[in-house]
Amino acid sequence: MEKTFLMVKPDGVQRNLIGEIVARFEKKGFQLVGAKLMQISNELAENHYGEHKERPFFGELVDFITSGPVFAMVWEGENVISTARQMMGATNPKDAAPGTIRGDFGITVGKNVIHGSDSPSSAVREIGLFFKQEEVVEYSKLM
Ligand code: CMP
Repeated sequence: MEKTFLMVKPDGVQRNLIGEIVARFEKKGFQLVGAKLMQISNELAENHYGEHKERPFFGELVDFITSGPVFAMVWEGENVISTARQMMGATNPKDAAPGTIRGDFGITVGKNVIHGSDSPSSAVREIGLFFKQEEVVEYSKLM
């Protein structure tokens, strides 16, 4: 079954949006298979956002994501990668439709509440960066 990496960013954690965000994915029907509240190190942030290294906002991005605790999650379900991206809305909250997480809770592109993997290869890479294999659970096939 497909898995994706989702993370409530420091702004979302500080604004007490963890429960609201988890509830949206639960109600949709996806299954939470890994989760932790954690402080990201500079090294992990630079690795995670490595593809943006040459962007002018890279320093700002790393500073922000390491500025406070994040809530890192692994979610499982059919087409969870693309469906979660739809539920998150456009990267820039000003372009995100109402009803999406960023459309409902975000204002600026830097503090856009949530991160989600954009492809199967980035999901595998990001889950591996944030979670050990034994931190991702498997539910019984009978459930
Ligand atoms: P995310 O999905 O976590 O992936 C990369 C992040 O870069 C993105 O969300 C935005 O929060 C951030 N980002 C994109 N463009 C800018 C920008 N112009 N200034 C600051 N941050 C940005």
